[in-house]
Amino acid sequence: MYRTHSCGELRINNVGEQVTLAGWVQRIRKMGGMSFIDLRDRYGITQLTIDESASKDLNTAAEKLGREFVIQAKGVVTERTSKNSKLPTGDVEIKLTDITVLNASLVPPFTIEDESDGGEEIRAKYRYLDLRRNPLKKALELRHKMAQEVRKYLDGIGFMEIETPVLIKSTPEGARDFVVPSRMNPGEFYALPQSPQTFKQLLMVAGYDRYFQIVRCFRDEDLRADRQPEFTQIDCEMAFVEREDILNTFEGMIKALFKNILNLEFNEAFPRMSYADAMNFYGSDKPDIRFGMKITDITSLVQGKNFPVFDSAEYVGGICVEGAAVYTRKQLDELTEWVKRPQIGAKGLVYIRVAEDGIKSSVDKFYSPEDFTAIAKTMGAKVGDLILILAGDSKKTKEAAGTLRIEMGNRLGLRNNSVYAPLWVYDFPLLEWDEETQRFYAMHHPFTSPKPEDMDKFNSSDKNEIALVCANAYDFVLNGTEIGGGSIRIHDSVVQQRMFEVLGFSAEEAAYKFDFIINAFKYGAPPHGGIAFGFDRFCALFGGQETIRDYIAFPKNNAGRDVMLDAPSKIDEVQMKELCLKSTVTL
Ligand code: AMO
Repeated sequence: MYRTHSCGELRINNVGEQVTLAGWVQRIRKMGGMSFIDLRDRYGITQLTIDESASKDLNTAAEKLGREFVIQAKGVVTERTSKNSKLPTGDVEIKLTDITVLNASLVPPFTIEDESDGGEEIRAKYRYLDLRRNPLKKALELRHKMAQEVRKYLDGIGFMEIETPVLIKSTPEGARDFVVPSRMNPGEFYALPQSPQTFKQLLMVAGYDRYFQIVRCFRDEDLRADRQPEFTQIDCEMAFVEREDILNTFEGMIKALFKNILNLEFNEAFPRMSYADAMNFYGSDKPDIRFGMKITDITSLVQGKNFPVFDSAEYVGGICVEGAAVYTRKQLDELTEWVKRPQIGAKGLVYIRVAEDGIKSSVDKFYSPEDFTAIAKTMGAKVGDLILILAGDSKKTKEAAGTLRIEMGNRLGLRNNSVYAPLWVYDFPLLEWDEETQRFYAMHHPFTSPKPEDMDKFNSSDKNEIALVCANAYDFVLNGTEIGGGSIRIHDSVVQQRMFEVLGFSAEEAAYKFDFIINAFKYGAPPHGGIAFGFDRFCALFGGQETIRDYIAFPKNNAGRDVMLDAPSKIDEVQMKELCLKSTVTL
């Protein structure tokens, strides 16, 4: 037997027991004639000691140990004289009688402790060593628990977990596909699924009316802290449902996760907000509602006073930042530069300080004290607050104000990671017009149903009418992050064909790409709808983090590379030939 206990198990009531532990040497310290070894495994750390009375052999064996050696240690559990209240095993130590080295280790390239001295790149290269560290272990434990809870909850209400293929035909979800060449079908390619969207709909046609899958998805898109090229969804679909059924079912699942993982109870229904309100008041389709600071439209209030910037703007709006009137001129200048960054795209920033000694602003020349008082009143500003105003094109300015709102929320410490503010956003536009390609794109995906009351507009030949169609779609947002998205689907082959037409697919193109689903809808497709949650994002937020990388055992870096495997990589000529591939790139 390799071990009688784990390294996280022994307590004061084990004192006197003869035990065998196995694990990794975290640290060795010598003090006087004593040696202390911290032995670590997945479950914790136990201190091993060798005192003056130990045999010469034992001392010699201990001297040969190095960090990260794998050893088996035998000894007696004794009470520590100086206890360590930070460790669950901190009341005891093992007085060693025997050590066996199970495997030696090279000196690790960074310290394997909670706060490592290794940079990101080196830790990614030695991911298996980084995974030995507590923070990563905790992240993966949380992920495991979340997956178990999801399965338990959905199984409990009749959902079946069904696997769908990974080598498929391209499904449009807005990103580029990763493709796989087929050796047996020269010149042809599979696509990796961006999501199992069409398969889950086919499962509804097949009669499996409650489906879910914790499933890997692949999207070749630009990466960010909350995006990976391969990521995991909790993918769900239900038949014979309306929006309410979906929202209620999954609100139940999310509440169970909050309860069972974080011990947080949400007794009230989650708040809901229309897409239009989200954009108007938060400048984002994923508002962080942990704090207020809503955007206020003051266009009509500020125009007509000969301030050209405001007069010529389609929209003028701003936020009231509580208690920020103390911001200095220097801080305001810095903030102005910040909003002018290309990512934010504002042309400038107007401020109004509502201070004890009166209102001061960067546009004093154009507005009277009464004007400022009216603005302050509309924006709900009190003495001590700072009003920040942006002007320009309506959509872009609201978005910029939304980004500024988040920035101010961060600066004022209003985005506390241990506070959770869930939100459903609904009634998204069905389509987005793209000027460059002169065509509509589906805002969610092409299988999303228009709202029944908008069917006439959907069938209209007028582009402007079509642009107004609302989708029966919804997102689940947590703390300003889009965690889930879904919709009630089209289940009528004629409506689906119309959708492809609106998206500018020719009849042949639609048939080539989507015949399977249009045909399936001709064989008794039930009304259905669903949702998919980004599982990595869910886990990261539950862990209080914004970046998902640590919640994935072996993630890719920002350039989409696995630096440990050094992938992607070239393949040899023979393989290329077999797959009928020719590279035009010389590396
Ligand atoms: P959607 O494209 O909104 O919907 O994706 C659902 C959720 O998946 C997560 N997500 C990602 N997470 C990490 N890295 C990525 N690159 C990434 N892309 C998306 C997000 C998102 O909310 N088939 C539809 C669902 C449906 O209609 O049922 C779909 O995939 O959290």
